[in-house]
Amino acid sequence: MALNISIVPASTKAGKETIAALLNSPSKPFIHAIYRDPSKAPAEFTTHSNFKATTGDVSTGTGLDFTGSDAVFYVPPPTYDGTDLGEFATQAANNVKKALQDATTVNKLLLFSSMGAQYDHGIGILRINHISDTILKDAVPEVLIVKPGYFQENWVHAFQTIQADPPLLYSPLTPVDHKIPMVSLVDVGEACAQALLDEDKKTSPHFFDLYGPQHYSATDVQLAVEEVTGKKVEIAAVPKDQLAGFFAEQVPAAYVQDFVEMTTSALPGGTMAGDFGDHEHTVKGKVELVDALRKLYSAQ
Ligand SMILES: NC(=O)c1ccc[n+]([C@@H]2O[C@H](COP(=O)([O-])OP(=O)(O)OC[C@H]3O[C@@H](n4cnc5c(N)ncnc54)[C@H](OP(=O)(O)O)[C@@H]3O)[C@@H](O)[C@H]2O)c1
Repeated sequence: MALNISIVPASTKAGKETIAALLNSPSKPFIHAIYRDPSKAPAEFTTHSNFKATTGDVSTGTGLDFTGSDAVFYVPPPTYDGTDLGEFATQAANNVKKALQDATTVNKLLLFSSMGAQYDHGIGILRINHISDTILKDAVPEVLIVKPGYFQENWVHAFQTIQADPPLLYSPLTPVDHKIPMVSLVDVGEACAQALLDEDKKTSPHFFDLYGPQHYSATDVQLAVEEVTGKKVEIAAVPKDQLAGFFAEQVPAAYVQDFVEMTTSALPGGTMAGDFGDHEHTVKGKVELVDALRKLYSAQ
């Protein structure tokens, strides 16, 4: 029988890619997508007969009705409204836990986490994942916790900054040849859909890393951007002591230090920098960085 799968919040990047992969799956699961604003559900989903969107918010707990769901996919969202990240993540995870237990039908939770989330300090904004993992790791009989690398698609900002003269690629990743795990959202969607549909029950909680086919550095990003755009690009490396100024232009002041700490934790000598090797629970995606960037560039 086709599975009933709930996804919350469905508007997250990982949620959206996973719904797309599930709707393409031959096993034809029924998808219950929970949005703060269901009118944001894309037309390619709402026109599908196996898809329904409802209203719900993990931060207040309203609308989190998983009744009838066999499996739930939770992607802890970040917040930028001034709320403390730890308090926000704790409240949201507890709301999801209560909804899972109230539903009584949910046998599997797929929890979106991150590389580095095993640390309880020194990882900046990723503490939302450490907290969510801790609260939810035994919420239902089978809990799968996926720990992806940095999304390759985050580099989309390069397509704006290379319009400057000279064309620049801003990189908080230094030194420029330091490689870290990066994974395409396409592989994220495929791997999460597969984990939700998999009938083999894992010993719970089951943690797995999700990386791309190889790790990448700022220099690899530069080469990929050059290949895709046909332009010569210079790297504007942001040294560690200038990261705060760099992020202050992108996120509200209350979260700048969290972004600095998350970034430095992946740089040489950082909290998680020694953890990027493969192990028996590492899943490798197929999409190379250059192909993820080519897809974004041609969609512009
Ligand atoms: N980005 C990466 O490279 C990366 C890598 C590894 C792991 N992760 C993890 O992926 C998760 C998502 O992170 P992301 O930065 O990529 O975010 P994101 O997927 O862009 O998700 C943010 C979205 O969550 C939705 N949301 C729903 N309820 C919310 C609420 N109560 N408060 C705030 N937002 C809410 C918002 O959509 P609406 O406004 O439409 O409601 C918002 O746009 C995090 O747990 C992160 O640690 C991210």
